[in-house]
Amino acid sequence: MATDSLYILNESVKNDIEKETARLELQHRFFDDAMNNELLPPHIMDQLAETPSPRVCEIAAGTAIWLKELAKTLPASAELVGLDFDVSKFPEPEALPSNISLGFVDAYEPFPMEYQNRFDVVHLRHFILATKKDHGVLLVQNLLSLLRPGGWLVWVEAGAPLASAEPPSEALFQVQKIYYNFIKAAGLEIE
Ligand SMILES: C[S@@+](CC[C@H](N)C(=O)[O-])C[C@H]1O[C@@H](n2cnc3c(N)ncnc32)[C@H](O)[C@@H]1O
Repeated sequence: MATDSLYILNESVKNDIEKETARLELQHRFFDDAMNNELLPPHIMDQLAETPSPRVCEIAAGTAIWLKELAKTLPASAELVGLDFDVSKFPEPEALPSNISLGFVDAYEPFPMEYQNRFDVVHLRHFILATKKDHGVLLVQNLLSLLRPGGWLVWVEAGAPLASAEPPSEALFQVQKIYYNFIKAAGLEIE
């Protein structure tokens, strides 16, 4: 793993991979619910359905839960690649469909040539806690290098700062304050 990373959740759980795996899989379920079970926007799903061998890359793939769900909707000829700088949460290859492969990258470093200009879709999610302040443009340029011409970058975020409650909730307000202060103190990107 990159030593200067601001992403703290791997550090806090490095001796308890199972706990972190469970957290990420639960997070996926919450997100799936909020997105009405849409893994990608419908127009992009339609486009992938018309592509004989679609290629999809997920950055910060974690446990590969999103890729495994996506694989169920695509033909066996699809190429699905999950990349992360912490490979400890990756499932064993035998537990994956044969068209999913997983590998190491740091999203802030140039990607290996084999991945560049290759994918119809690049997806990442919940990356706000790993987005360094003032490095956003560099990161997006790096992500775009993975796409074939006309490909889609799909970046999905959610977080306490975006949430609201009706009637107004003091508890949510406190959570938002803590989250905001943490992000500021850690030098993470929020704008
Ligand atoms: C950003 S979340 C996304 C998890 C999962 N894809 C999901 O949507 O539920 C956590 C993952 O980001 C990875 N990550 C954080 N910073 C990264 C970086 N600079 N490069 C690659 N992966 C990173 C962590 O190792 C962790 O597996």
